[in-house]
Amino acid sequence: MSNNQTFNDTVVRQFALMTVVWGVVGMLVGVIIAAQLTWPELNFGIPWLSYGRLRPLHTNAVIFAFGGCGLFASAYYVVQRTCQTRLFASPLASFTFWGWQAVIVAAAISLPLGYTSGKEYAELEWPIDILIALVWVSFAVVFFGTVGTRKVRHIYVANWFFGAFIIAVALLHLVNSAAIPAGWMKSYSVYAGVQDAMVQWWYGHNAVGFFLTAGFLGMMYYFIPKQAERPVYSYRLSIVHFWALIFTYMWAGPHHLHYTALPDWTQSVGMLFSLILLAPSWGGMINGVMTLSGAWHKLRDDPVLRFLIVSLSFYGMSTFEGPMMSIKTVNALSHYTDWTVGHVHSGALGWVGLVTMGSMYYLIPRLFGQKQMHSIKAIELHFWVSTIGIVIYIAAMWIAGVMQGLMWRAINDDGTLTYTFVESVKATYPFYVLRFIGGLLYLTGMLVMLWNVIKTATAGRAEPVPVPVTAAVAHA
Ligand code: HEM
Ligand code: HEM
Repeated sequence: MSNNQTFNDTVVRQFALMTVVWGVVGMLVGVIIAAQLTWPELNFGIPWLSYGRLRPLHTNAVIFAFGGCGLFASAYYVVQRTCQTRLFASPLASFTFWGWQAVIVAAAISLPLGYTSGKEYAELEWPIDILIALVWVSFAVVFFGTVGTRKVRHIYVANWFFGAFIIAVALLHLVNSAAIPAGWMKSYSVYAGVQDAMVQWWYGHNAVGFFLTAGFLGMMYYFIPKQAERPVYSYRLSIVHFWALIFTYMWAGPHHLHYTALPDWTQSVGMLFSLILLAPSWGGMINGVMTLSGAWHKLRDDPVLRFLIVSLSFYGMSTFEGPMMSIKTVNALSHYTDWTVGHVHSGALGWVGLVTMGSMYYLIPRLFGQKQMHSIKAIELHFWVSTIGIVIYIAAMWIAGVMQGLMWRAINDDGTLTYTFVESVKATYPFYVLRFIGGLLYLTGMLVMLWNVIKTATAGRAEPVPVPVTAAVAHA
């Protein structure tokens, strides 16, 4: 069989396996920094083990290595299946894999050594930024080339979300990383002062909107109908969802800069668009969950579907909480506290983490010619261990956050502060222990997944899958 008659699953397989590997690494670093916040002496006085250097290593590893590899794997798989054609420019696809791994390794070396541009979620220095840009342009060529050479007329909605994610991330990266080099690993942003802050949080919020949301919604629109064996609840809603979401996200960034030097009206625009964002977010969640209508019983017996559906409930929860936190008076309490960290992880562990794991549990056996994963019991165990871990993590952070906010603003009758800062740190200690335990459970689940994936991969064989000759249904 010639190459063109089979799907390119090699690159999908590579990205899928690395999703699991980087998931373990990134979450392990998360557990280490959670432990350091509880027991600070755990940095052993070694600079490259210090909290300030490991924290960006954690965020980069979980978002761009774990999340990123999951997104590459699913975008490449879904676009081939829904377009009924082989991946466009396979050598370039292979470059995206090796190039992305090189970016991750460069991050894993340069961040602990202390090289950083100081911009959150965009810490990597300019030579690595250039490599990211090259990989991303190649990703766009491969993805849109495949859509352009499709054998079916229709472009399935999952591809719209993947496409928007690819274009928006290119734009965000190019604009926010614009810098003047001042040495091989040192640069200065081309923006200054409050403009720099505004560009950074336009980037930061849309990194949430497009990296941590739009791409994963692409996964949701393909893998939930597939695993549930039912069509999407409402195709019309999915189109409205798409346009409303991508239009609204772009304007919400200023909610990260409430009560700063940013003009007041800009902050209010950010708050307004964040409140509006609740509607398309929930529209998407409802569309995903209702895909199961009439087949709710499947949730009882199928742990993979449970990962996917529970991820949507966390998505709904964090996209309700986010708009609330964007209200200026609420933000006055939540900002700088662990409430933000709780919000982040209900989105990150609950939504991004679970939807990725569910999608990988669907993909990995198929990529190795197996009907299902080696152990369904292990998937079940993973589901419960991680769900309990998430609940402990986020409940601890919510309580700690609200407590900190209230302690910091409490004043005595004579106008002096009721509590010193150190008293609030002391009061937070038990919640940091709880967060560490929650994180440890989540990491344990990921280790169970790694074992299950190794067993499945070694028992199966990576056979090329033929592209169907007839142009079948749009979302085959
Ligand atoms: C309707 C959707 C959402 C809105 C309106 C929203 C709003 C907010 C607000 C107001 C903050 C606090 C800003 C501050 O006080 O500094 C925040 C922080 C954050 N949110 Fe959301 N959120 C949404 C959904 C999500 C989701 C689904 C995720 C993750 C998958 C997420 C990830 C984050 C992150 C990472 C931060 C912390 C940023 C930082 O300071 O480093 N958000 N969000
Ligand atoms: C075992 C699981 C995890 C643990 C124990 C963990 C722990 C932590 C800790 C301790 C912090 C620093 C909080 C602070 O500075 O006060 C943090 C930050 C962060 N983590 Fe995680 N994490 C885990 C998984 C994840 C995953 C899977 C994601 C994303 C997909 C993620 C995304 C983030 C982000 C975006 C921040 C920055 C939050 C902010 O600036 O407000 N984490 N994590």
